[in-house]
Formats: sequence, structure tokens, C-alpha cells
Amino acid sequence: MNVLLTGGAGYIGSHVARALKGAGHTPVVYDSLVKGHAEAVRGLKFVQADVSDGAALRQAMTENQIEAVIHFAAFIEAGESVGMPDKYFHNNTVIGLTLLDAMRDCGVKKMVFSSTAAVYGKPDRVPIEETDRLAPINPYGASKLCVEYMMQAYATAYGLGFVALRYFNVVGAHPAGDIGEAHNPETHLIPLVLQVPLGQRKEIKIFGDDYDTPDGTCIRDYIHVCDLADAHILAVGAIEPGRVKVYNLGNGEGFSVRQVIETCCEVTDFDIPARVAPRRPGDPDRLVASSTRAVNELSWQPKFPYLKEIVAHAWQWHRNHPHGYGGAQ
Ligand code: UFG
Repeated sequence: MNVLLTGGAGYIGSHVARALKGAGHTPVVYDSLVKGHAEAVRGLKFVQADVSDGAALRQAMTENQIEAVIHFAAFIEAGESVGMPDKYFHNNTVIGLTLLDAMRDCGVKKMVFSSTAAVYGKPDRVPIEETDRLAPINPYGASKLCVEYMMQAYATAYGLGFVALRYFNVVGAHPAGDIGEAHNPETHLIPLVLQVPLGQRKEIKIFGDDYDTPDGTCIRDYIHVCDLADAHILAVGAIEPGRVKVYNLGNGEGFSVRQVIETCCEVTDFDIPARVAPRRPGDPDRLVASSTRAVNELSWQPKFPYLKEIVAHAWQWHRNHPHGYGGAQ
């Protein structure tokens, strides 16, 4: 299948592009390169353009005979979104609508959407099931939930078919060692912790130790980026016209910020200093997925469910690429 990947040169998009190619599909990477990296998608079909550019989208879909879209392009920082909701609703929601209209106009009837655990807000219980209450506590989660609602309306009105994948915390890097996480600036926990043994940071700040969790620090469910990529291949095959299917993607086990730091110490064999700092706005106490639906309906099976192995792959990538792609960051 010819698949257009918006934001396909980003961290998750580049891993999915490679997995798609490995599964016999033809990925077409569509990325502005504002955040993405050309080096991450070498050898793949590539269109440099912005998702806000409806004409460029239509041209890319028509010229490449696109049959399905995987929509990654988005701003992703929950904390930042609290102070900059305009950035999140414009980029994630309004531009999401531009994409849906281009698909409808070009007869592209299938889409997999990068949704997020942030749509649940502060969950009433963990592990979270897809049918649990949707109540985002930050504009990031709200901006993604709006797209899920738009998808439902476009499925009903125009017969498009969708899968929304609600990612929990995506981490790790490709075991081949040549692609991985390279955000600039970096805000995610594991790459920041690994900057300490790399000599790029003196200590890691723990954003709050007074949460309602056993050690007081936030609990998250960490999933390997390659397992997440596999789920996209399965999701593309599961799309049905006129329907929106929704799947959580996580490992079903929660780790606190302190436990993550300990695991990073073990993997790197480095004593990583940590200091408690004020809470970051927009952080729920705990997010842990029930991915039973993805296992049962998509036959999804994670290959790397253990945090230590996930961190080991991240460490391999960061140690060999301390400045990300191209060394220019
Ligand atoms: N944290 C720290 N110190 C840091 C960085 C992070 O203590 O220097 C804490 C955060 O406060 C949070 C946890 O580590 O409690 C994880 O934070 P990340 O920034 O790594 O990830 P988030 O949980 O905020 O968000 C990520 C993705 C979102 C996605 C979400 C789903 O960025 O896109 O996971 O769980 F929606």
C-alpha cells in the first residue's frame, strides 16, 4: 500500500516508515523538516512540505497514488501546551482538519492517527481502558481529542475509515542503532536522564515528588518505539470504512520517575544525580495502559516489553549520536 506519513521524518514517524517498508508497503514521508530529520528517512520517498499547505498535501496524495495516511505531525509537549494553547489547537487541531479535507477531496479513505494517553487526563483508575472517561487536563490532550471527534464525524459523513492509536510514553530507539530520538530542545525524561552520563547535563530534575504515588513521583507506562511501529502496520490493515477504531498502546506496567532514573543508572553504570524541582504543569499522577484490545483485535505483541532493554536501546543510540542527527544540535 502507498502510505503518506505526515511528520514521517520525526522520532516515531521514522521508525514507522522503516517498519512499513519492511512489511512491503511504500512509505512516502511528508515532513517540513522543522522538527524532523532528513537523515532519519534516507532512501525513502520524501516530500518536504507543511501539513498546513492543503495544495501540497493534495499534490502529494495524487502524485503518489496514496491509499492511506498516518498522521504524526504535531506538537507534543503537554507542559508547554498549558502556556501556549494557541500553538497546540492551531497546529494539532486546525491543521488536522486541513488534512482530513485533503483526504476527502483526493479520495484517500484510510488514516491512522497518533493520539495520546493525554486524552484521559487524570484517570479514575489504572490500567486505563479505551472506554474510560475522556477528560484531558492540558491543551495538548484536548487538541488531539478534537481530532478524534473530527474523525468520527468524517467517518459518519464521508465514509472514511480511521484508527486512533493512543500512545503512552514512547521511548527507546531502533536496535540497529542508526535511528532514534532527537528532539531539540529535548523535554522527555529518558533522553534527558541519559544526557547526564553523556556529560551534557549535571543532574536530572524530578518534577514533583508529592504526587499520589508510592514514591511521590509520576508514574508512566513506557513503550518501545519499535513495538509502537509494529502496531501501526497492524492498524493500517484493520481500517474499516465509516468506522473509528481506538487502541491504547502501552506495556501495562507503570514506572515512577525515580524508578526510571534507577534503571538508567543500571544500564549506563553511572550514578546519575537527581534533584527534586517543582511540579510541571499539566502532569497527571499516573498513566498506565490496558492494551488488551490491541492484543486481542490487532494481534499486537510487544517484542521489547522490559524497561531495561528499552533504556539500553535508547542508550546505544544516544551514546553513539550524542548530538542527534548530523551532530549539529
Ligand atoms: N519529568 C521529570 N523531569 C524531566 C522531564 C520529565 O521529572 O526533566 C517527568 C515528567 O514530569 C513526567 C515524566 O517525567 O512525570 C514523563 O515526562 P515526559 O516529558 O517524558 O513525558 P510525558 O508523560 O509528559 O508525555 C509523553 C509524550 C506525550 C504523551 C504522553 C502520554 O510527550 O506526547 O507521554 O503519556 F501524550
